[in-house]
Amino acid sequence: MPLYSVAKQAAARAYVPYSRFPVGAALRLKDGSLISGCNVENASYGLCNCAERTAIFSAIAQGKQAADFDSLLIYMPGETLYSPCGACRQVIVEFFAPDAEIFATCDSGLCKHWKVNELLPGAFTLD
Ligand code: THU
Repeated sequence: MPLYSVAKQAAARAYVPYSRFPVGAALRLKDGSLISGCNVENASYGLCNCAERTAIFSAIAQGKQAADFDSLLIYMPGETLYSPCGACRQVIVEFFAPDAEIFATCDSGLCKHWKVNELLPGAFTLD
């Protein structure tokens, strides 16, 4: 199933009683397998978890290796294209290679993409 469809299906499972803004993410591994995630909100707003981090944390929890992470696609509803938040960018830097591609899509069919090192130049790492 295409990355876009997996991300869009994941958005349908989002827990978003506060923003009503369902987001889906699809993480592609180098063997072609996909792991999805959706945003999960909380009455304590600061504890909301974005779709990208859900997908990444799920992959790690399933025993996938960061070295096998190939790319990540984010699906957001509506006609406006957004980019990942700062928290997600830091988590993306932790697990994806600097030249890995991150994609953002929405219902308008627009798509933007960045290399990880474009999303967070000069990122804090302990490498
Ligand atoms: N959100 C994502 O899940 N991914 C993004 O790239 C941007 C924003 C969600 C939407 C809403 O749940 C908000 O973050 C809550 O922190």
